[in-house]
Amino acid sequence: MSDKKRKRVLSGVQPSGDLTIGNYIGALKQWAREQHKYESYFCVVDLHAVTVPHDPGELRAKTREVAALYLACGIDPQASTVFVQSHVPAHSELAWLLNCVTPIGWLERMTQYKEKSGKRDKESISTGLLDYPVLMAADILLYQADVVPVGDDQRQHLELTRDIAQRFNRLFGETFTVPEAMIPPAGARVKGLDDPLAKMSKSYTGSDYHAVYLLDPPNRVKKKIMRAVTDTDPERKIIFSDDPEKAGVNNLLEIFAALTDMDREAVLAHFANARGYGDLKKAVVEVVNETLAPIQQRFHELTSEAGYIDELLAEGAERAAAIANETLALARENMGFLKPHRRL
Ligand code: TYM
Repeated sequence: MSDKKRKRVLSGVQPSGDLTIGNYIGALKQWAREQHKYESYFCVVDLHAVTVPHDPGELRAKTREVAALYLACGIDPQASTVFVQSHVPAHSELAWLLNCVTPIGWLERMTQYKEKSGKRDKESISTGLLDYPVLMAADILLYQADVVPVGDDQRQHLELTRDIAQRFNRLFGETFTVPEAMIPPAGARVKGLDDPLAKMSKSYTGSDYHAVYLLDPPNRVKKKIMRAVTDTDPERKIIFSDDPEKAGVNNLLEIFAALTDMDREAVLAHFANARGYGDLKKAVVEVVNETLAPIQQRFHELTSEAGYIDELLAEGAERAAAIANETLALARENMGFLKPHRRL
């Protein structure tokens, strides 16, 4: 296995739809906080975004936008490597090698695949959608990542990555580091504001009041949060709770806790004298807008400088490829592929 001086982190976001505060809380906020402790790699996972029907022009635009948002959310390109997955071909190649050691039953059991493929018939879903977690495993294993900061919805994919790594190592000898998931203590699964039983998702288009997007202006943020679904509890109890009846209030408290870095006790003390859900919502509007203002300002600065993001991504891909190619060469060697040799 490669010689690492520091532990490594790898994570990524799909450039599909507009990034939400769920993506920020579950992923980006943790990345920015942890990036200096580890050797960090953050990729825009564009190959994952084509597993469902997509628009080519939009994919290109979103790929740049997501990269700019990484930086706007605090990723320091001097300290961390930011790149686009498809710029490093080793991701696709390792995915093929891993495909051949991954039983199909493991993939058919994935909750996200079952949800996304749902009741649609097999003629209308791509093979890529089923294979998606193997590509994700390749993303992680190529960098010998020790830690993968993600939201709770990716926990199962991380377990699968560990299973694939262990199986490969058992079959062909020590090749991959077996990674750990890093899930945030608050806001690991931010829920929809319109439906607090469903995950807040960047690809959901059913309602204008489902998600707060990172680039939403303050008045839109306010409108969405003030309309968030709560409950009809006559006592208007502001409590953390697993009870589905209190899911809306719980979600607002989780968002507040995650963005302020306060623990549950401090959050409850903060709202001890609140008069009803209106006060809770106003406080959440305030912290969300305080969080988003500097992100949006930085985003606009970064994207107004023509070519800056593209240049940075090209540099990032070079740095990433150096590590990825080393691991891929080891995996190929251990699997028994003949190297090309020329007679001199
Ligand atoms: P994606 O693009 O759906 O989401 C990106 C990150 O945001 C987190 N997240 C959330 N966290 C809390 N609450 C929510 N409502 C919420 N919605 C999304 C996700 O957990 C994720 O961390 N398969 C991955 C992308 C991926 C990846 C990887 C991640 C591809 N390769 C390698 C880590 C390592 C995905 O679709 O994330």
